Amino acid sequence: HENTEYRNILTRAENRVGYIALNRPEALNALNRALVGELVTAARAFDDDPGIGAIVVTGSEKAFAAGADIKEMADQSYVDMFLDDPFARFGEFGRLRTPVIAAVAGYALGGGCELAMMCDIILAADTAVFGQPEINLGVIPGIGGTQRLPRAIGAYKAAELVLTGRTMAADEAERAGLVSRIVPAAELLAEATRVGETIAAKSLPVVYAAKAALRAAQETTLAQGLASEKQAFTSAFALEDQTEGMAAFRDKRTPQFRHR
Ligand code: HXC
Repeated sequence: HENTEYRNILTRAENRVGYIALNRPEALNALNRALVGELVTAARAFDDDPGIGAIVVTGSEKAFAAGADIKEMADQSYVDMFLDDPFARFGEFGRLRTPVIAAVAGYALGGGCELAMMCDIILAADTAVFGQPEINLGVIPGIGGTQRLPRAIGAYKAAELVLTGRTMAADEAERAGLVSRIVPAAELLAEATRVGETIAAKSLPVVYAAKAALRAAQETTLAQGLASEKQAFTSAFALEDQTEGMAAFRDKRTPQFRHR
């Protein structure tokens, strides 16, 4: 997975965890067309590899991503954006089966905040800053900010952020429920690795089912979500890993999941 063709990201894999580091330091990891393409291609490659059980997406110390690339967008017309949407491939990122952990230090603004919200877990360094400042540029969020932020932090807090463009620091983001956990900046990657390796040690099909069920909670009614959860829960009993997991509990030993 160390693909040297990438120009805007760095990738590697270790202990069943795939790592993608956004790497445009000169632009605070602004999401230009090329970076988006590489990010989604790399994430899909990890997702297609059954040897990978979790994906970690990081930026730099200063910025997870400072948003879509304003310089690239500035001269685009309506028809340019409509016919050749530079963010179209983010749909694929949202449909990954593998859990994705965003490890956020510094700025996660605009498309950067939206990218973090497309991940399943958001670990934040104490230096993290979140926001949807698009309104200051004469646009609105375009890759999920007006939809995922209210679901994550509630309608009224999301409205204040989107309409004023103000940013919030890690502690406010954690209180609001946007952040899974805050860790000291120096420990961010180590903690993301721990979380990724913990997930990657579970049964892969069961992890996929758990992620899909959690996603359904965001996207369906309670009744539909409960019905699909029940179906997925019941299906787990068709797997050897259910037998192994429960036998290991009974025998007081660590389960050796076959499908991982
Ligand atoms: C392009 C960017 C950028 C961006 C920073 N840079 N953010 N380039 N697009 N989103 C560039 C700067 O121009 C500068 O390059 C370099 O990165 C360092 O940034 P500075 O501004 O000098 O750093 P600093 O003073 O520390 O300020 C950091 C910052 C600020 C507060 C994060 O850069 C900022 O406000 N950035 C824009 C944030 C934003 O509005 N994001 C939303 C984008 S719209 P040069 O070469 O000039 O020195 C969006 C829409 C998503 O995301 C929806 C799409 C469908």
